[in-house]
Amino acid sequence: MSTAALSLLPATSLCLRPSVDDRHDTLFWNFMLDAHGAFVPEGRMPRESFLASLRDKRAQAKDDLWVVTDGPDPIGLLAFSVDAPSAKLEELYVAPSSRGRGVGRVVLSTAEALIARAGGRRASLHVFAANERAVHFYERCGWTRVVRRTLFVDGDQLVMEKVIGGASSRASARTGEKS
Ligand SMILES: CC(C)(COP(=O)(O)OP(=O)(O)OC[C@H]1O[C@@H](n2cnc3c(N)ncnc32)[C@H](O)[C@@H]1OP(=O)(O)O)[C@@H](O)C(=O)NCCC(=O)NCCS
Repeated sequence: MSTAALSLLPATSLCLRPSVDDRHDTLFWNFMLDAHGAFVPEGRMPRESFLASLRDKRAQAKDDLWVVTDGPDPIGLLAFSVDAPSAKLEELYVAPSSRGRGVGRVVLSTAEALIARAGGRRASLHVFAANERAVHFYERCGWTRVVRRTLFVDGDQLVMEKVIGGASSRASARTGEKS
């Protein structure tokens, strides 16, 4: 898990900041509810188990957890894990007021660069098939659908993949580190 904040775009105040303790947990929960609440039946995402899974991920350094900030304001989150050469994009979220301005694209390409740096060569993700906005977003960013899974309670999910380490990932790997 990295500890330095990363500047996302020159001449902007967009940053990725590592989430190393529980101060962002409520934010993570609220963002998760907004992202998935429409696709998951009520009661299937208990807050306590979600927070426990965050604690577990941090304790075991299983995932990279990041908060996207614009100046002082948290505007998104990112979570991924790497078990080289495989990697998994666990969460990507941009707050509604910041969407449609390229934030998701730059966060995702930075995530791909970090995955590549950690030895990840093929990344996968799960997304609700009904989340057409997100599926379209990932396709625009070079991810492809590989399989559709039916989960009887939570609805269909798509598995999407991307080969990591191409030219765009290498360019993003030069993203500057901030103290
Ligand atoms: C999906 C999400 C991360 C996109 O972030 P964003 O900052 O709005 O996306 P960007 O502005 O960087 O757009 C990047 C590309 O995706 C496409 N895209 C973004 N939002 C879209 C939408 N609502 N419908 C169709 N395409 C969309 C854009 O056309 C753009 O492609 P282009 O640059 O070639 O035109 C954001 O909408 C989000 O956080 N949604 C809720 C959480 C979620 O569903 N996460 C993913 C599932 S885990």
